[in-house]
Amino acid sequence: MTETTDAATREQQALIDSLPQDFRWGVATAAYQIEGAVAEDGRTPSIWDTFCRVPSAIDNNDNGDVACDHYHRMPEDVGLIKELGADTYRFSVAWPRIQPGGKGPVNEAGMAFYDRLVDELLEKDLAPWLTLYHWDLPQELEDAGGWPSRDTAYRFADYSMLVFDRLSDRVKHWTTLNEPWCSAMHGYVHGVMAPGHRDFGAGVRAVHHLLLGHGLATQRMRAAAPEGTQFGITLNMGTSDAASDSLADREAARNADGMGVRIYLDPLVHGRYPSDVLSDIAVRGAALPIEDGDLSVISTPLDFLGVNYYFGQQYSGVDEQGSAVGEDGFPAQRPIPFGEPTTAMGWEILPGKFTELLTRIGRDYPGLPIFITENGSAFDDEPDESGFVADEGRTAYLASHLAAVAAARQQGADIRGYFAWSLLDNFEWAYGYAKRFGLVRVDYETQQRTIKQSGYYYRDTVRRVRGS
Ligand code: FCB
Repeated sequence: MTETTDAATREQQALIDSLPQDFRWGVATAAYQIEGAVAEDGRTPSIWDTFCRVPSAIDNNDNGDVACDHYHRMPEDVGLIKELGADTYRFSVAWPRIQPGGKGPVNEAGMAFYDRLVDELLEKDLAPWLTLYHWDLPQELEDAGGWPSRDTAYRFADYSMLVFDRLSDRVKHWTTLNEPWCSAMHGYVHGVMAPGHRDFGAGVRAVHHLLLGHGLATQRMRAAAPEGTQFGITLNMGTSDAASDSLADREAARNADGMGVRIYLDPLVHGRYPSDVLSDIAVRGAALPIEDGDLSVISTPLDFLGVNYYFGQQYSGVDEQGSAVGEDGFPAQRPIPFGEPTTAMGWEILPGKFTELLTRIGRDYPGLPIFITENGSAFDDEPDESGFVADEGRTAYLASHLAAVAAARQQGADIRGYFAWSLLDNFEWAYGYAKRFGLVRVDYETQQRTIKQSGYYYRDTVRRVRGS
């Protein structure tokens, strides 16, 4: 280690050690990425089961049929969470297990799995942090129009109540949606995630109905909630800088920030969509399908905001040919790398942008406690002969990003916890099993789990900060 990196590391450690003793430490997963058992106990296909059958939609044509086989190995995996020193487990519930086909009464066999999971967690003194929707929409609801259809928002609220009625006696933290930006944009506009459509108008309708579903579910759950229950939503966000001071670049950055951050947080927190975003959408011939009363439903008060951060970007407003109008006939928006090293996802490693994002959210949307509900990195791990993974890259990423969180706290952002993505290597959506994010390695042939160096680093850090 050179003197500079050594010094940086000591500086990072000092920052991390400034986190409070009662900081919440978690690890995160999502149902489709780990559970497998896709046809068991009455589960019906989700849009991801369908999308995985589209040739070449997923790297290596992988699918989530078996994944980490967590459905059958849940107690062992809960044991790993404990070993990593975490106090909280963020997981998601698979809608098609609870309500096969997306409507009707509870499927008891599917519900029983989450019932057992929650009990297992509580028995080990781990707090369950439940996400209701991490992208696995029942296929029948997609066939009926999916998120671009208003009815899906009401179906989501019904489903949420089925889970809430059963688990709210034991689960205190409820997240409605994970990353609606990905559901709407990657799912309905970019075509790279389920259901794989390419239609901007459908994407913005999905944005509004996801937010409406969040609001409807939150209102109904809150009305039935035992004291002390907390509600929130998880958004993926980054920073959007202009690559230069030119008007075109500043416009491109403003647009990216509008469609990435403000289109969600403004209605959630302030009860209105930003006017520049409404005009950007109109320029593309589309509109948010807002009906009377929707914004007061969407802005129903939140107890916390979940932030997922992976990287930041800077934008140019001219394309490679030097044109301010892109091939699609709309204003160009081209990400320009900062020139920093990247993870195996090709995402630049930018911890400083994490601090910037968090302080900005604290400033623009005050009064909302923040939990980092995901942050982590994929690297091409190589186990040694004994099977151990000395994942220096992931460990360094973790250290620098924890330090970034601590720095943001020192600058006034109200951050209460950090959940590492991910507990296990798992099915990384369109990248299949090729990208590994786990603090724990999964050998997909044998389903053997092995804690990586980053996992031990996490455990030791948690212990030190907690003073235990
Ligand atoms: C986020 C997702 C999560 C995982 C990470 C790498 O966008 O919420 O499921 O795939 O990215």
